[in-house]
Amino acid sequence: MTVIPTVELLGDGRPMPVIGIGTASAPPPTPEVFQAGMLHAIALGYRHFDTAYFYGSERSVGDVIAEALRRGLIKSRAELFITSKVWCTNNYGDRVLPSLQESLGNLRSEYLDLYLVHWPVSLKPTEVRSPIETEGMQPFDYRAVWEAMEECHRLGLAKSIGVSNFSCKKLDQILSIAMIPPSVNQVEMHPLWQQKRLMEFCKEKRIVITAYSPLGGYGHKWGYNDVIECNVLKQIASARGKTLAQAFT
Ligand SMILES: NC(=O)c1ccc[n+]([C@@H]2O[C@H](COP(=O)([O-])OP(=O)(O)OC[C@H]3O[C@@H](n4cnc5c(N)ncnc54)[C@H](OP(=O)(O)O)[C@@H]3O)[C@@H](O)[C@H]2O)c1
Repeated sequence: MTVIPTVELLGDGRPMPVIGIGTASAPPPTPEVFQAGMLHAIALGYRHFDTAYFYGSERSVGDVIAEALRRGLIKSRAELFITSKVWCTNNYGDRVLPSLQESLGNLRSEYLDLYLVHWPVSLKPTEVRSPIETEGMQPFDYRAVWEAMEECHRLGLAKSIGVSNFSCKKLDQILSIAMIPPSVNQVEMHPLWQQKRLMEFCKEKRIVITAYSPLGGYGHKWGYNDVIECNVLKQIASARGKTLAQAFT
């Protein structure tokens, strides 16, 4: 079984495996397909799984954790690194903690390894449209949301806290008020969108970047095929005897 290297996160969080598997899918796979895929991943050595309240996959991840324990693929929950995210409808000071508690209930877990603010946007709690419509947006209260995230950490419910889809400017706003700085910023990043300024900024602040959509969101409505069809990337991969996906994910 492959052992995936880990990276230390700011604060007293648990080391994060540098390769993870996402669980966002539209339409969602059947429970059987989801479970078979994730159990296979655990058997291969994957330990870091990325879910979110918005993905609707937390319950399925909880089922797989229980099944992996039952089959002896892992000896305890602590062998896994589970990330989840608070959705924009809960980006309010009084809604973050209840949302985390709901996520933990879905996962049947006592804690998350990493809890992220999914997007720096607040939506009306009743807003269900996707994609997001501007009239559903509300002012994002950085202080109230981040203090609520810090409370999640202090209560031991989130071993590490962080953000997702934050620019340098938005990270700066969090850092200016944070008692506990964000340990991770999960953003889209791949060879055709390297976000060098954001990378430099995060490195300087010791914020670990998690790159999502390494193939450019290929196959998603919002994604594009430019990465997977890029001739230069294909040549680099083939020179190493790899497929493009093997070389760049
Ligand atoms: N924080 C955020 O806002 C955010 C946003 C987006 C994603 N994420 C996270 O990142 C995870 C991954 O997202 P993703 O956009 O990379 O989606 P993905 O669904 O993992 O991959 C995108 C596409 O790449 C193709 N693909 C994957 N592996 C391949 C391979 N080895 N060879 C050829 N094609 C391959 C898949 O095609 P097939 O379906 O044909 O296999 C899929 O359609 C999500 O599940 C989620 O956890 C986070």
